[in-house]
Amino acid sequence: MIGIFDSGIGGLTVLKEIRNQLPDHNFIYIADSAFTPYGEKTTEQIIERSVLITQKLVEKGCRIIVVACNTATALAVDHLREKFSVPIVAMEPAVKPGVKNSVKKKVGILATTMTLASRRYMNLLERFATDTEVIEQPCPGLVELVEAMAIDTDKTSQLLHQYINPLLKKGIDTIVLGCTHYPLLKQKIIEVTGEDIEIIDTAKAVTEQLRRKIESCEIPAKVGTANRFITTGDLMFYKNQLQCYWPMEVAVEQIDLN
Ligand code: DGL
Repeated sequence: MIGIFDSGIGGLTVLKEIRNQLPDHNFIYIADSAFTPYGEKTTEQIIERSVLITQKLVEKGCRIIVVACNTATALAVDHLREKFSVPIVAMEPAVKPGVKNSVKKKVGILATTMTLASRRYMNLLERFATDTEVIEQPCPGLVELVEAMAIDTDKTSQLLHQYINPLLKKGIDTIVLGCTHYPLLKQKIIEVTGEDIEIIDTAKAVTEQLRRKIESCEIPAKVGTANRFITTGDLMFYKNQLQCYWPMEVAVEQIDLN
């Protein structure tokens, strides 16, 4: 069984890909809705929540963990790998594919404040962005709007214009979505960028990495239990979110990690 988590429902963009590519595997998805957004929390809080959730997933029988959150990866994945013996697949902004795609050698990265401030992100730049101008844009507020299911609103369009227009002015030809919530805004982002800007996210690449890990660690496929969707926040609200963002009706559960 695969354990997946995010600060909220952003990780569903990764889970969709996992379900398509690895339908033989069950999963438990935990949304840490009580603590969203991670991007505006402290490093200590992000580590603490990531450890608590991973612990829960392992207790519930997960044999491999997917950190479907760039922010939790940036701040907590080293701790998780130190503390837990299960394999941990994590994600980070697609700097390398972004740089490879950019003809003009100008790439914009949209991510949370904490991801862009992390040492891990700096390392990515040092390794892969040597011949390319990378322009970072922290996007406070976007995660909250996605969580609130407020995608088709003036507020969302206004924030996207505010964050993306300066990148367009600087001549970027590629935008990396460095937060798993942002693919849910892709249509709205295209309304700002037009069709000529390449938009890159990492769900497919992470799922490929997960498949390789499952094979090399010989993680067994379905174990007879159903997929589970769990929140640390309000149950009815989570149910509404899943009705909005997940393609089928599912049962939901609530846990208290405190
Ligand atoms: N979806 C997450 C990410 O990929 C977390 C966003 C947040 O909670 O701020 O970074």
